[in-house]
Amino acid sequence: MSIFRAATDLPAKIRVTRAMPILNFGSLNIDRVLRVGHIARPGETIAGTSLGVFAGGKGANQSVALARAGAQVAHAGKIGADGAWLLEKLSEEKVDTRWARVDGGTTGQAMIQVDDAGQNAIVLLAGANREIAPNEIDEALADFPAESWFLVQNETSSVGHAIQSAKARGMRVALNPAPFDSQVLEYPLDQVDLLCVNESEGAAMTGANAPRVIVAELAARLPKCEILLTLGSAGVLYRGASGPIHLAAPQVQAVDTTAAGDTFLGYFLAGRCGELGLRESLELACRAAALCVTRPGAMDSIPRLDEVLAFRGCRPAG
Ligand code: RIB
Repeated sequence: MSIFRAATDLPAKIRVTRAMPILNFGSLNIDRVLRVGHIARPGETIAGTSLGVFAGGKGANQSVALARAGAQVAHAGKIGADGAWLLEKLSEEKVDTRWARVDGGTTGQAMIQVDDAGQNAIVLLAGANREIAPNEIDEALADFPAESWFLVQNETSSVGHAIQSAKARGMRVALNPAPFDSQVLEYPLDQVDLLCVNESEGAAMTGANAPRVIVAELAARLPKCEILLTLGSAGVLYRGASGPIHLAAPQVQAVDTTAAGDTFLGYFLAGRCGELGLRESLELACRAAALCVTRPGAMDSIPRLDEVLAFRGCRPAG
């Protein structure tokens, strides 16, 4: 049986309920982006063509994607004084930053090479992102109702505690275990309601390589969890109670793939918290991520809802 499905029509307008807040406890980074002909190989010195400084961090990017999709999102996290401009940027996007702290050492930094094909290689310096203590997470959680979603990635500290505490409060938990490290396997993954991984994270978690096997393995291990496996230009493989869905991505000319996964997850979660069904949420997220890769930068490349709704793009023949 083919699980390929053609593009879904989206309503011309969608409403994402603003009554149900999403708390994202996530990283905030200063991205230093070097454009290069190709990603430097070990031992090689290469010339870059430009250097830009941008707002980023998987967590912050996901908050902006949620907000641009119309969701009500609060971003909690930690920066140093050098990153205050990141919070200003989030506030301009209508992300509620009252739970973000500016009492860390140095703000997280990401050194990003982006090559001519739009592919990237990222080196992270966690900084304040990994200075978050369990009690700081609990203080933020205490302000959110049980019916809200809690979102977390793997660029901050105390992630396992965060998952456990949010679930204990009755919240629904979404985890993006990026970047993957062996600690992820120690997290209370059975408490996670929505897991979003890319192929390398999925392979590291399961030892499998084929997308369908990765998803089947994860679903067998986490039977109550919705699984999203993002496949880059090949779209997404979803698995939930209703079975698997593969949705192809619109084909675009990639300029910079940074933050495509963040855009996907933010838009998907916004769709699920709003009035969209599952397939429509997947479609919305695929279109948003496809648009994101046509633009340079991380946070700045995340499209707005009206742009996403107006964009259909071409799909590969099914
Ligand atoms: O997902 C993209 C993000 O990963 C970048 O913005 C960078 O900060 C790293 O966290």
